[in-house]
Formats: sequence, C-alpha cells, structure tokens
Amino acid sequence: MSSVVVIGTQWGDEGKGKVVDIYTEDADYITRFQGGNNAGHTLIVDGKKYIFHLLPSGILHKTKRCLIGNGLVVNPKVLIQEIEALAKSGHDLTPERLGISPNAHVIMPYHEAIDIVRDEAKGNKKIGTTGRGIGPCYEDKVKRTGIRMQDLMDKDLLTEKVEFNLKEKNFLLKGMYNTEPFDPEPVVNEYLTYGERFSGFITNISLELNHAIAEGKNLLFEGAQGTHLDIDHGTYPFVTSSNTLAGNVLAGVGMGPSNIDFVIGIAKAYTTRVGGGPFPTELFDETSVHLQKKGAEFGSTTGRPRRCGWLDILTLKNAKRLNGISGLVITKLDVLTGLKTIKIATAYKYKGGIIDEMPTTLKVIEESEIIYEEFPGWDDDITGVRNLSDLPVNARKYLDKIEELINCPITMVSVGPGREETIILTNPFA
Ligand code: GDP
Ligand code: IMO
Ligand code: MG
Repeated sequence: MSSVVVIGTQWGDEGKGKVVDIYTEDADYITRFQGGNNAGHTLIVDGKKYIFHLLPSGILHKTKRCLIGNGLVVNPKVLIQEIEALAKSGHDLTPERLGISPNAHVIMPYHEAIDIVRDEAKGNKKIGTTGRGIGPCYEDKVKRTGIRMQDLMDKDLLTEKVEFNLKEKNFLLKGMYNTEPFDPEPVVNEYLTYGERFSGFITNISLELNHAIAEGKNLLFEGAQGTHLDIDHGTYPFVTSSNTLAGNVLAGVGMGPSNIDFVIGIAKAYTTRVGGGPFPTELFDETSVHLQKKGAEFGSTTGRPRRCGWLDILTLKNAKRLNGISGLVITKLDVLTGLKTIKIATAYKYKGGIIDEMPTTLKVIEESEIIYEEFPGWDDDITGVRNLSDLPVNARKYLDKIEELINCPITMVSVGPGREETIILTNPFA
C-alpha cells in the first residue's frame, strides 16, 4: 500500500492533471482534497483534450475510483457539466466511479457574484481571482454559515440557510456594490434539484479511504493550484482561499499523517502565473513571447494569458520544504527548445544582502534583484524522447542542475502535453 500526493510547486498550472492521469495507472483511489473549479487540469489522451475543474484527473481510467473530498468547494452546475461532457466520450460516471463527501461546501450563485464585484472594486489592488466564487464560499465555511453537499438533500435546512445567508449577501450586493440581489426561493428550488442529482454519490470518504488503506490499496491525492497560492504560505494576499499544501490532504479528506508515503512536487521547466501578485522571474521580452506561444500559456479555466518567466529555485526549495517533497516532476521541458540561453534564478539580492530562501514578506519579494545562472539551450525536438539518455546534452545538464540545486531526485520528465510524451524514471508507488 502507498499513498502519493501530487502538488504544484509554483503558482499553478504546472501540469498536475497530466501527471495525475499517468500515476493513476498504479492507483486504486484518486482524490481531490481542496480548491474548486478555479482549477483547470488538462489531459491529452489519444489526441483528445479534456479539462477537469472538479473531477479528479484519474477519471478517464474506468476501473479506478475517484473521490471529491470535504476540503473542496463544489459548484454542482460545473460538476454536472463535467459529468455530461464525459458521458459523451463514453464515460458513465455512476456512484461506483465517483464519490462526493457530504461535508464538501457548495458554491452558491451569490458567492460567484460577490467574488466578481468585490475583486473588481479593488481596482489596481485586485487579486485577479477566477471569479468562480471560491473565496466567498470558503469564507462562509470558516464563518460557519456555509451550505454543504448534504444540506442540498434537506429542504427545510437549505431554505433556512439560504434565507439567512441572503439577508447579508443581498445587503452587500445591493448596498455596497449596487448590483442585483438574489431571491431565495428560486435558489433553493434549483439547488434541491442538485441534491437529488448527487444524493447517490454522497459517501463518507474518510471511512472509505481508511478502509482502503487497511486493505492495502494505493491512494493518489491530487492538489489544485500551487504551493505559492497557498492561503498561509503563498504570496498573500495574491493567493487562493485554501491550503494547497500536501499537509492539507489530511484535513481535506479525513486521514492521519502517518498514511502519506510520497509527495511529488511538479515544476514547470520555467514559471507561469495567472492573475495579480509578485513574480520575481517574470519576463517581458521575446523570451516571454516564446514561452507563452510555445507553451500555449493561456488559463485552462479563464482563458487569460499566463505571465511567463524563468525557473526560480527559491520557489522550488520553498515548495520542497513546505510540502516535504520526495520526488520532482519537471514538465514542459520541450517548451525551452529553441532558446539560445536558459536562465535559472538561484538567489535574490535585497538591500545589498543575498537571499537564498523565499522571503516571507511581499515587499522583499517585489523589490529584490534576481541573480541568475545561465545555461546553453538546445535546438533538437525532444517531444519524441522517452529515455533521459536520448535528450540533448544541454537538456540533461539543465535537469541535473535542477536536481542539484533543489537536492531532490527527478522522478518524471514531461516533454509534451500527450500522455505518452513522458520520460518515466521512478515509480512513487513502488
Ligand atoms: P494543471 O492545472 O497543473 O493541471 O496544468 P494546466 O492543465 O492548467 O496547464 C498545463 C498545460 O500544459 C496544459 O495545456 C497541458 O496540456 C500542457 N502540458 C502538460 N505537460 C506538458 C509538456 O510537457 N509539454 C507541453 N508542451 N505541454 C504540456
Ligand atoms: P490549477 O489547479 C493558476 C489564481 C487566480 C488568482 C488567485 C485567486 O489549474 O493549477 P481564486 O479564484 O482561487 O480566488 O483566485 O489564484 N488561481 C490559479 N492560478 N492555476 C490554478 O489552478 C488557479 N486557481 C486559482 O488566477 O490569481
Ligand atoms: Mg490549471
């Protein structure tokens, strides 16, 4: 039995979907533990593109069980869309294949409305959220007024909760943001239909996973967002509203710490970020155009162009420590092909002092000068490479340098978006 956690080391979109799909081969259960449909996880399988926002990225493997943990915020409309889209590709998602925690919180239409108007009202200080209602939904959870999946099956409780919540939300929407309020009745009626739709999928996932552990099954946990979007350890306030770190698997599904065996940290071979916030190695030159074009760096959820820059060792070292990463996956190495010189940020310089760990203060991150090491690039197409030894020597040197600087072994290298465009080195479940 093994439990493997897959985490993004940067600011999201590292390629978690592709990697989870590959590791699902060896897993019995694939579970999301935090976030919501702010995530966009892309898989390219047999030339067909799938983007999952809520469904775990193991869902294409018909014999595996996928779970949505209590730590998520679930938009039932989006979940229905994903299930219906998959049905068209021959995937019948019965309760045998998909389970949902009764304690996962529900994103309501007023959460989305507040998310959008409130971020907009921040002007040049806006976070650039995905507008999916993630923050407002987690706020209600912490405030203890949130609506959970199980509440959608109880008409009286749902009515009471929606009416109570809307008194406050409508005051905010109308009084502060001068926008349309919500009438509770149609909201309740609509969400009761989602309760009916999902009642068969509701399951105590803590119990299920702990039974699975006792039976010696392999568990895979899929992180969403990335380490530096973590509410506590990210570049606050330019973060998401959940803990994205490996440690949150435990609370996000209901499992004890002794059950985690291996943590995979995924790093893009360069860095991207969507939305606002500091990005020390961001580029604004022809290299950023190269990375954005060749890497197709547009958000999987919102379609916004992703900001692009060099790999930053400080973020990766930070991610290794914060998550207890035991193996690295490097993705999108092929995107660097054709660059004459490749740079890695190895330290920051602030007020004359050298910094080699990610600063905890936004001001220091923003005002630091970046110190780079330079490496010669390569021109050969590497998308067909399946063995490390067949990579151009400069690509291998680049990977060796990353391993050395982070002091962590690389377990997989991705050289293209397709499932097969992968160099597998070690199996974390072994
Ligand atoms: P996630 O949110 O971490 O799952 O990542 P996204 O799916 O949002 O973004 C990663 C993008 O890069 C997707 O379009 C993937 O299909 C693509 N991708 C993943 N790995 C590779 C790779 O090795 N090379 C290239 N060129 N694209 C990749
Ligand atoms: P995956 O799982 C990249 C970013 C948003 C914004 C900030 C807060 O695909 O890697 P939110 O809507 O969560 O309140 O937005 O976080 N963000 C992501 N960026 N990938 C993601 O998910 C993200 N999820 C949220 O752009 O800056
Ligand atoms: Mg994504």
